[in-house]
Amino acid sequence: MEVFLVFSLFILTVNSVAIRGPEYTRYDPCSLGLIYFEKSTNTSWQGVINFSLYPNISNAAIEISFDKPMTIYGASHNTIITATDDWKVFVLKPSGELPPRYVFYLAENNNGNNVPIVTQVKLNDLVLCNDIMKKDQTIQSLNMTKPDDTVQRQVCGRRALQNAELNSVKTDVKAGDWPWHVAVLITGPNDVNQAMYQCGGNIISKTAVLTAGHCIFLNRVRVHVSQFVVEAGIDNLLDAYQVGRQSLRAVDIIIHPAFHLDEATADLAIIRVNRFRYSEYVQPICIWGPSYNKENLYGETALVAGFGTTEENKLSNKLRSTYTVVQNDTTCIAYSPQLYMSLLNEFTFCAGLSPDAGTSPLQGDSGGGLVVAVMQPDHKVSWFLRGLLSKCGVPHGKTMCDPTFYVVYTDVAPHYGWIYHHSGLSYLNNIVD
Ligand SMILES: *[C@@H]1O[C@H](CO)[C@@H](O)[C@H](O)[C@H]1NC(C)=O
Ligand SMILES: *[C@@H]1O[C@H](CO)[C@@H](O)[C@H](O)[C@H]1NC(C)=O
Ligand SMILES: *[C@@H]1O[C@H](CO)[C@@H](O)[C@H](O)[C@H]1NC(C)=O
Ligand SMILES: *[C@@H]1O[C@H](CO)[C@@H](O)[C@H](O)[C@H]1NC(C)=O
Ligand SMILES: *[C@@H]1O[C@H](CO)[C@@H](O)[C@H](O)[C@H]1NC(C)=O
Repeated sequence: MEVFLVFSLFILTVNSVAIRGPEYTRYDPCSLGLIYFEKSTNTSWQGVINFSLYPNISNAAIEISFDKPMTIYGASHNTIITATDDWKVFVLKPSGELPPRYVFYLAENNNGNNVPIVTQVKLNDLVLCNDIMKKDQTIQSLNMTKPDDTVQRQVCGRRALQNAELNSVKTDVKAGDWPWHVAVLITGPNDVNQAMYQCGGNIISKTAVLTAGHCIFLNRVRVHVSQFVVEAGIDNLLDAYQVGRQSLRAVDIIIHPAFHLDEATADLAIIRVNRFRYSEYVQPICIWGPSYNKENLYGETALVAGFGTTEENKLSNKLRSTYTVVQNDTTCIAYSPQLYMSLLNEFTFCAGLSPDAGTSPLQGDSGGGLVVAVMQPDHKVSWFLRGLLSKCGVPHGKTMCDPTFYVVYTDVAPHYGWIYHHSGLSYLNNIVD
C-alpha cells in the first residue's frame, strides 16, 4: 500500500496523516445526551452532566447505578451525595440553581482502572438509561420503515448499542463503533486486485458516500470512477475476511460544481454505490443543515475517525478516533496568516488543539468526517457530520502535514441541499433510499 500526497505550495492535501491526538476515553451510557464519563487519570474518572438540556428543572436528583462498587469523591457544586447498595448506587442532589455543566469525580473502589459501567441512570425518577434500553437499540430499531412504506426510512447517526456502547472509550476502535466511516480505495488501472488506500468517507445513504473532492484525484489528475472501491464495516483495512465487511465498487462519482483542488470551500464528492446493506457495522451518518452558523461551533469538541498513520509516513491499517476542538478563524489566521487566510471563509473552518498544548492536534484522513453529538428528544445522542477533512499545513521543504498546524475542514452544512440531492435522500426528512 502506498500513500499519495498532493503537494501545492504551503498546502498539502491531506490524504493520510497521523491521528495522534489525545486518547479518546469517553463513555456515554446508553448514548445519552445528559451524562458522560471521561477518564482523568489511570484510576479516576470525571462524570459530566449537561443540565442545560433540561432548562425546566430546578431541583435534580440524579441516581446512577454502577455494575461495581465505586467512590464518588467530589462534585463541582454543593451536592448531597448518598450511596446505597454497597457503593453501587448513588444519588446526587446539587443544591441551588442547576449549572449548565455539572462535574463529579469518581473511582473504582479497589483502585481498578475499568470503565465505570452504568447500569441505570434516573433523573428525578425518570429512567433515562438501563440495560433494557441498551439492548433495545438494535439495528432493527434503527430501521423506521413501516410495512406499507414505499421508501426506506432509517435513523441516522446511531449504532447498535450492544456492540458499540463501550468500545468508543478507546482510540483504537472496533468495527461498528463508527459504522458510517468507510475507506475509499483506488485499484490499479489494469489490476483490479491491487487496491491502494486513498481516503476516508462517510455513508450518507444506502447508495452514497461523501468524501473530499480531492480524493478523486491522484497527482492532480482525475481518477476514473471504475477504479474506486469503498470498504465499509471494517476497522482493519488488511483483514479481508472481517465480519461485516462490505466492499462495493463505485458506479458514479459526482464532484461538487464549485470544487477546486487548491481550495477547501467545496472539497466534496459523492461516490455512488449499489448498494449498502445496513447492519451492526454499516449505518448512515446524519448531515448537519440546512441552517448553519459556524460561530456556534467555536470551542466545541468534535470527533474524527480515520485509518490515518500512527507514525510519520506509515499507513495505519486500524481505524482510530480521537477528538479535536473547532477554533475561530482568528486563532488559526494568527498562527499562520499565509496558510489560513486563503483557506478560511464562510464554507470552511479550522480545528485542532492548541499548538502549545503539548499534544499533537488531531489529524485524520482526508475525506474523513468531523462529527458532533447532538441531543435528541429521546434523550439520546445522534451523530451529525459537520466537516470533511480537507487541508493541513506543511512547512517549507516538507511533504507531510505538520501536526502542530490546525486542520481545515469543508463545512458540509452550507452544502446540505446538494448532498441530499445527490445521495438519493428526500430533502428535509430522514427518508433513505
Ligand atoms: C498509567 O498507565 C500507563 C499504561 O498502562 C502506565 O504507563 C503509567 O505509568 C500509569 N500511570 C500511573 C500514574 O500509574
Ligand atoms: C419549559 O417551560 C416552558 C414555560 O413553562 C414551556 O413553554 C416549555 O415547553 C418547557 N420546556 C420543557 C422542555 O419542558
Ligand atoms: C449542553 O447541551 C447543549 C445543547 O445540546 C449544548 O449546546 C452545550 O454545548 C452543552 N454543554 C456542554 C457543557 O456540553
Ligand atoms: C426494514 O423494515 C422493513 C419493513 O418492516 C423491511 O422490509 C426492510 O427489509 C427492513 N430493512 C432492513 C435494512 O432491515
Ligand atoms: C478566538 O479564540 C481564542 C481562543 O479560544 C480566544 O482567545 C479569542 O478571544 C477568540 N477570538 C474571537 C474574535 O472570537
